[in-house]
Amino acid sequence: MESYNYFVLARAIHVIGVVLWIGGVAFVTTVLISALKKVPDTGSRLDLFERLEGKFALQARIVTVITGLSGFYMLESMNAWERYLQPQFWWLHLMTFIWIVFTVVLFILEPLFLHRWFRERAIRDSDRAFALVHRMHKILLTLSLLAVFGAVTGAHGLYLFQ
Ligand code: HEM
Repeated sequence: MESYNYFVLARAIHVIGVVLWIGGVAFVTTVLISALKKVPDTGSRLDLFERLEGKFALQARIVTVITGLSGFYMLESMNAWERYLQPQFWWLHLMTFIWIVFTVVLFILEPLFLHRWFRERAIRDSDRAFALVHRMHKILLTLSLLAVFGAVTGAHGLYLFQ
């Protein structure tokens, strides 16, 4: 198979990773947390959140690795690392930034202390803890959608904000 075809395959795998990953973040943000905030019993609210988001965390870990590997593979095969030095590729910076944030949260902060920290806060003041976690998800979702917008327009030759 020609090396260009491997590049196209990597792009398809990358986009499948993005769909499973950012699609999941969208579901957790707009559906799951919004619905949980309306559960009156704060104990079962926390229990449901931990069970459902915990299951998504495993999927998110796997697709974060796949998306990162396919993304770096594309950069390597296009020999396009110098894009990191060019402002018109702001969307590449944004994609990489989001990937770093998720990698740090999912692989380091969450297992080390974030899980326990959120649990303690939610037991003390559930409404405030869920409002905070909702805000964080909204920020990450907005940035992720902006990265998708920038990547698709940029990869197809429409350079905005330059
Ligand atoms: C380490 C992290 C990442 C790297 C190195 C990376 C790199 C790349 C590269 C090189 C391309 C191809 C660009 C081109 O054809 O000119 C691409 C495409 C794309 N990336 Fe990423 N990416 C990363 C993470 C992400 C994330 C987190 C998202 C979503 C929020 C994302 C969304 C996309 C999309 C939607 C495309 C497809 C554009 C298209 O073909 O229409 N990427 N990425």
